[in-house]
Amino acid sequence: MKALILAGGAGTRLRPITHTRAKQLVPVANKPILFYGIEAMVAAGITEIGVIVGDTRAEVMQALGDGSRFDASITFIPQDEPSGLAHCVLIARDFLGDDDFVMYLGDNLLEQDLGAFVDAFESARATHEPPTAQILLKQVPDPHRFGIATLDDSGNVVELVEKPEDPPSDLALVGVYLFTKRIHDAVAGIEPSARGELEITDAIQWLLDHGERVRCELLTGWWIDTGKLTPLLEANRLLLEKIDTRIEGSVDQSSSIEGRVVIGKGAEIVNSTIRGPVAIGAGTRIEDSFVGPFSAIGNRCVVLRSEVEHSVIMDDSSINEIARLEDSLIGSNAAVQRSRQKPRALRLMVGDHCQIDVE
Ligand code: G1P
Repeated sequence: MKALILAGGAGTRLRPITHTRAKQLVPVANKPILFYGIEAMVAAGITEIGVIVGDTRAEVMQALGDGSRFDASITFIPQDEPSGLAHCVLIARDFLGDDDFVMYLGDNLLEQDLGAFVDAFESARATHEPPTAQILLKQVPDPHRFGIATLDDSGNVVELVEKPEDPPSDLALVGVYLFTKRIHDAVAGIEPSARGELEITDAIQWLLDHGERVRCELLTGWWIDTGKLTPLLEANRLLLEKIDTRIEGSVDQSSSIEGRVVIGKGAEIVNSTIRGPVAIGAGTRIEDSFVGPFSAIGNRCVVLRSEVEHSVIMDDSSINEIARLEDSLIGSNAAVQRSRQKPRALRLMVGDHCQIDVE
C-alpha cells in the first residue's frame, strides 16, 4: 500500500497568510498541518509516500525533505496547475504503479487513526465481493461545500455528487480515500467538471457506473478541512486538547503555569500567566502577559504586556501591548503593536512580514 498526499492548491481562503506560505504548512498546535497527515500514514504502516506539489513546491519540499525525519520515503510529484484531485492521480501513475493506495488531502485533519480504515479495506478486499475503493463519510451541517454521498437502505453507496446546490444528503466525503489500480481507468474516463477540474468524486461515480463496489465508512471523531480561519482555529483547539505538559524553557517565580502547557527549549516566561492548553515554541519570550487557553505561539516570538487567547501566532512574530488578542491567526515575522491601550478585543488574520499599529 502506498500513499498519495495532495499538497498543491492555492489556499485562497486563508489569504493573506497563503500569499507567502503553503496552506498545508500553516501550523496547528505548533506543527504544520501536513505533518499530521504524514505521521498518520507512517503510523498506519505506509511509508512509500508520493506528495503532489504545486506553486508552493519549494517550501513544501524543504519542509518534508526526503521523508527520513518521518521514517518514510517521499517522492515529490509536481502539478503545474490545480486541475483537480483526479488529475493528481493521473500524474502520479508512475509512482503508484499497480499498487493500492490511500489518497489524503493535505489540508484535512482527522482524529481517527488511519490504521483501522486501511485494515477494514484489506479485509473487505479478501471477500467474494471485493470493493475497488473505500470512502470515508461524515455528517456535516453545510453539505453544499463538499462532495456528497447518497446511500441506499442497506448503507451501500449509490451516488456521489460534488458540491451540490441541492444536497441529496448531509454525508460529506472526507479527504481520505482508498483505491485499487482500477481508479486509473476512472480518472482517464471522466471529463472536467463545471469548475474545469477533474473531480475525484466523478471518478468514484465512474467506478459505481461501471459496476464496481465502493465501500464506505462513517467517520467517528472529528474531521476538519482546515482551509479557512475558523476551522483552522478549531483544529488548533482540538489538537491542543491532546497535549501533555512539557516544560523545557524557563519560568520565573512571579509567573504561573496552569493546566497543560508545552514550553519549548530556551523559551522564557517572565511575570506572566499561562493557562493551558497552550503551546509555546522554542526561544519565545512571554513577559508581563496572559496567554489563555487554546493559544499556539511559534518559535522565537515575543509577547509583551499583552493578553492572547484562542489564537495561532507563527514563528518570529511579536505582540506588543495588545490589551486582548483573540480568535486570531498571525503570520510569521509579523508585528502587532499598540501605542495607547484600550480595553477592546482585536480579531485579526495577519500575513507574514506585516506590521499592524493600533491606535
Ligand atoms: C475536496 C473534494 C470534496 C471533499 C473535500 C474534503 O473539496 O472535492 O469532495 O468533500 O475536498 O475536504 P475542495 O477542498 O477541493 O473544495
